[in-house]
Amino acid sequence: RKLRWLWRAPLFVSLAGIAYVGWGVYEERNPGPQVEPDPSKKTLVVLGTGWGSVSLLKKLDTEHYNVIVISPRNYFLFTPLLPSCTTGLIEHRSIMEPIRTILRHKKANVKFYEAEASSVDPERKVVRVLDTSEIRGDVVETEIPYDMLVVGVGAENATFGIPGVREHTCFLKEIGDAQRIRKKIMDCVETAAFKGQSQEEIDRLLHMVVVGGGPTGVEFAGELQDFFEEDIKKLIPDIADRFRVTLIEALPNVLPSFSKQLIEYTESTFKEEKIDIMTKTMVKRVTEKTVEAEISKPDGTREKITLPYGLLVWATGNAVRPVVKDLMERIPAQKDSRRGLAVNEYLVVQGTRDIWAVGDCAVAGYAPTAQVASQEGNFLAGLFNNMARTEVLEQRVRELSGSLNLAPGNAAEISKEIEEHERQLRRIKDIKPFHYSHQGSLAYIGSEKAVADVSWFNGNLASGGSLTFLFWRSAYLSMCFSTRNRLLVINDWVKSKLFGRDVSRE
Ligand code: FAD
Ligand code: NAI
Repeated sequence: RKLRWLWRAPLFVSLAGIAYVGWGVYEERNPGPQVEPDPSKKTLVVLGTGWGSVSLLKKLDTEHYNVIVISPRNYFLFTPLLPSCTTGLIEHRSIMEPIRTILRHKKANVKFYEAEASSVDPERKVVRVLDTSEIRGDVVETEIPYDMLVVGVGAENATFGIPGVREHTCFLKEIGDAQRIRKKIMDCVETAAFKGQSQEEIDRLLHMVVVGGGPTGVEFAGELQDFFEEDIKKLIPDIADRFRVTLIEALPNVLPSFSKQLIEYTESTFKEEKIDIMTKTMVKRVTEKTVEAEISKPDGTREKITLPYGLLVWATGNAVRPVVKDLMERIPAQKDSRRGLAVNEYLVVQGTRDIWAVGDCAVAGYAPTAQVASQEGNFLAGLFNNMARTEVLEQRVRELSGSLNLAPGNAAEISKEIEEHERQLRRIKDIKPFHYSHQGSLAYIGSEKAVADVSWFNGNLASGGSLTFLFWRSAYLSMCFSTRNRLLVINDWVKSKLFGRDVSRE
């Protein structure tokens, strides 16, 4: 009998799984009715629809505020899987979640404007926004007043003013970047395979250069080599021995934020995958077809090199966005801040009263990661929910205190209620400052291998390889925004495994 139950266990697990997914799908398709927010409540303006802002919106009790979200992007992007979109392993829409769907699930209605904040005036408490929509043909500029403002606009790509970077390279931050790279890889491959190319030109076209050995550069290089090994090589064997990936890094090693053991593991895996790593090499100039760099040699001398390339992906980290720079210039307390808006332990922008900042645009002493941004967003939601509840309770205490004299017969009851509210108020007001809890770092390094530095019982567990790859996939799958995203990503992985990546160029 026991065996019969054991035999049935997988069936029950599958049924439970199907029920879980079914419930997720039902919930996503059938949000409850929404109430209109009370116009007398404060206006909370949120800039951006990235990790920081969306985590805030997810947890925020929108009934307590008039919430307005402004972003040029009407979707949330799950950036950890963006490198997989550059090769078509994952289709870009699988990692996008429309902001309208997210906001429709809130209890009270939230306004969304697809526009870009161009400046913030902290004196007049207004945000200037630009709508550059193509359909209208001109730029519409308007002002949106706020009582409270959350800046979550992220960061832009750092170029350090290096000539030619903006004109000739591809970044990897947005969906459009990944689409551009995907097209360009196939353009290089198809052009290299065209009749009558010189050997030199074929080598140039099939040389893919990645500048920046941080996690973005490393993950992209791994994905690119996989694409070549698993698909391009099989489909176009004539170019099989010519395709090359080079990763250029200014520091002595790649992945500087990972432990030494994982850095070595990544570098040796790249060697096996035939990805060339050039460390201590600083790119100085980029032209249409070449990249110029300077290698620091062990004897202290420097050597200048010029490498021809077909595709160049620039992944050298973050720079401050113009709207944030402009705001920093308006606040005297921000004059010494260089990398973004300096915030205090409650994420309030230093030198302001009603402005908070989250994510890559905020300087709170943590790395610019999705993990930090989402925890900051969560923290702010809790803070704002508490602030709203405090106001409601204080108002009720004022009303009850006023009615004490009017209804002396109920004095004992009223006093008890006041006491209870004051107890709640003390508890709510005791808000702890923001504390970041690091769960670990993960990165994909190609050939179905990943590296992970994970926090483990107050210590650190470093692992790399195929099992870590399975952990990487399951961790990111569970972190995807919605059930829809999860199903689409699984579908893409299975589709690519069975039929290969789609190499057609749109
Ligand atoms: P973002 O997520 O960049 O969002 C900014 C938002 O602001 C966007 O919606 C944007 O459209 C909007 N915006 C921009 N300008 C304006 C404006 N003027 N007005 C209004 N809105 C504006 N981190 C990890 O922890 N793990 C990972 O695996 C990981 N992988 C990554 C892979 C890649 C390829 C990249 C590029 C980054 C990765 N990161 C990862 C880093 C992570 O994506 C960022 O730290 C995170 O996105 C920061 O969140 P944010 O909300 O500050 O900014
Ligand atoms: P990064 O700042 O982590 O790395 C950029 C690298 O480019 C640095 O190592 C730097 O030395 C190098 N560099 C700068 N200028 C150069 C030049 N002229 N020539 C050669 N090399 C040069 O940037 P990245 O990878 O874009 O990451 C940004 C943030 O996003 C980081 O905080 C990172 O942790 C996070 N992220 C995390 C991921 C993960 O956890 N899997 C994946 C991608 C990003």
